[in-house]
Amino acid sequence: MYNERRPHDTAMKRPMLVGNWKMNRTPKEAIEHVRRLRPALDGMPLDVVLLPPAVCLPALQSELEGSAIRLGAQNAHEAPEGAFTGELSMGMIRSVGCEYVLLGHSERRNIFGETDDTVARKVRAAVNAGLTPILCVGESREERDAGRTLSRVTAQVRAGLDRISDTEGAAVVIAYEPLWAIGSGEAPEPSAANEILRAVRDALTERFGSPHASRVPLLYGGSMRATNASLFLAQPQIDGGLVGAATRSVTDFIDIAREHSAAGQGEREHTE
Ligand code: PGA
Repeated sequence: MYNERRPHDTAMKRPMLVGNWKMNRTPKEAIEHVRRLRPALDGMPLDVVLLPPAVCLPALQSELEGSAIRLGAQNAHEAPEGAFTGELSMGMIRSVGCEYVLLGHSERRNIFGETDDTVARKVRAAVNAGLTPILCVGESREERDAGRTLSRVTAQVRAGLDRISDTEGAAVVIAYEPLWAIGSGEAPEPSAANEILRAVRDALTERFGSPHASRVPLLYGGSMRATNASLFLAQPQIDGGLVGAATRSVTDFIDIAREHSAAGQGEREHTE
């Protein structure tokens, strides 16, 4: 069943770790990789979501049968079907085992020209298809330097969620990824990321009301490693991580998952 264990249905959220593989691994390589991940990750007290290239999804769907590891896609089109050469619909990715879809990643916005409006339409389509959107937001270096981080990030959150209802608002995940931190090895102070995510939580509360907003898992992404993960996860507003480069190595990813599990052992407080 698809929605059996949504992490955001409980007040005390389990930590969530999302691995964005980007354009890496063939189906054969993906199977070899998850055969090494699965024994370590199954049974850990966290929600793990892998985002492989779409071509790997059918193979991983059968490989991960009975596993706690969830699957998502890195992108999908907002239309249910039609003349969109090279695209995949939300229903298509769901049919090969996806429960999640990453939307608005900065590489999609910057390399492929996705706007806030495109992202909002994709969020709507994902919810229609029964998928949980993982909405990515984040400021550029120039915006940070100009002191526009908070306004940029909260505007992206409001715009991205513009087309969904209050109750649907509880069924999304938000990932804050400063663009200058992605793939750079440079990460913000965990307390600074917490402040941004506090503003995101406030924007969600304003939009959807407190009970719905408090259920939304808020992730930090951008050069998260096993060495800094616990510092981010110790922050009251950070429920998990979105990692890219650290998915390249099985051991690095497992180490980060261990940090998430350890952070989830204590009670997490979302309203300070
Ligand atoms: P990174 O990427 O962990 O390599 O910084 C994160 C992302 O792009 O989601």
